[in-house]
Amino acid sequence: MQIQDRVFVVTGASMGIGEATARALAAKGGKVALLARSTQALRTLSHELPDSFAVTVDMTDFAGVREAVSKVHEHYGQIDGLVNNAGRSYGSTIEKIDPAVFDEIFHLNVLAPIVAIQGVIPIMRSQGGGSIVNVNSGTAFMTIPAYGVYSSSKRALLGFSMTARAELEPDGIVVGEVYPGVTATNFGKNRMVNEAGDGPAGSYAEGDTPEFVAGLIVQAIEEGGAQYFANDYIRKLAGVL
Ligand SMILES: NC(=O)c1ccc[n+]([C@@H]2O[C@H](COP(=O)([O-])OP(=O)(O)OC[C@H]3O[C@@H](n4cnc5c(N)ncnc54)[C@H](OP(=O)(O)O)[C@@H]3O)[C@@H](O)[C@H]2O)c1
Repeated sequence: MQIQDRVFVVTGASMGIGEATARALAAKGGKVALLARSTQALRTLSHELPDSFAVTVDMTDFAGVREAVSKVHEHYGQIDGLVNNAGRSYGSTIEKIDPAVFDEIFHLNVLAPIVAIQGVIPIMRSQGGGSIVNVNSGTAFMTIPAYGVYSSSKRALLGFSMTARAELEPDGIVVGEVYPGVTATNFGKNRMVNEAGDGPAGSYAEGDTPEFVAGLIVQAIEEGGAQYFANDYIRKLAGVL
């Protein structure tokens, strides 16, 4: 899909990969609705990006997600693309998983993208099509001790993404996924942890840049393929190389 003059919803746009994606879409002439919880960061970004629109929302509040999609639709009169990017990780061995945190991670990483997709389907259908990109993770194909909740949430997202791709294809709505590897954002710092502090290290200074991953997201929107991988290591794990 062409990006120029199209309207995109980007979740988790206040920092990291989402912010880089919003900038990349705006640089190509797209109009971007910026969704996240950090109102001030969204406002600052929205002042920089022409025709952007900031909407504060906690993606685990599903009524709020539906309302946010409606606000974007009212504001622009159309929605052409959705980038489901907001996500968090959780460091915990299986033994110490807190069911409440498990719920929060699965609500954010799996159900929120589904609720956002449900919100845009009727809009995109009435427009004759659209583009949906879900930001997954190379960890969907890995077994990493103390990272089971996160990697399993991304495996679930993979399943729903492929099913959505098949279900929405007749409506001209193209669903794709991007698989980042380690990316230099605050993702590690923002992870939830159990009381033992389990899981991978707190911040990722080394790794691909968020701009690189944003480039893959733009490519996924423009080309409409099913899966885009950050590197050959993930491609091999996914069985496509
Ligand atoms: N960085 C990596 O190494 C890496 C690798 C593979 C996959 N990924 C995936 O890439 C995506 C983006 O991660 P990132 O690296 O950019 O992480 P990040 O820098 O921590 O950014 C996460 C974004 O998600 C938003 N978010 C978190 N909880 C939210 C909630 N409840 N409601 C609304 N927004 C929420 C945050 O905004 P607020 O805090 O303002 O709400 C922020 O904008 C995630 O899906 C992640 O799983 C990252």
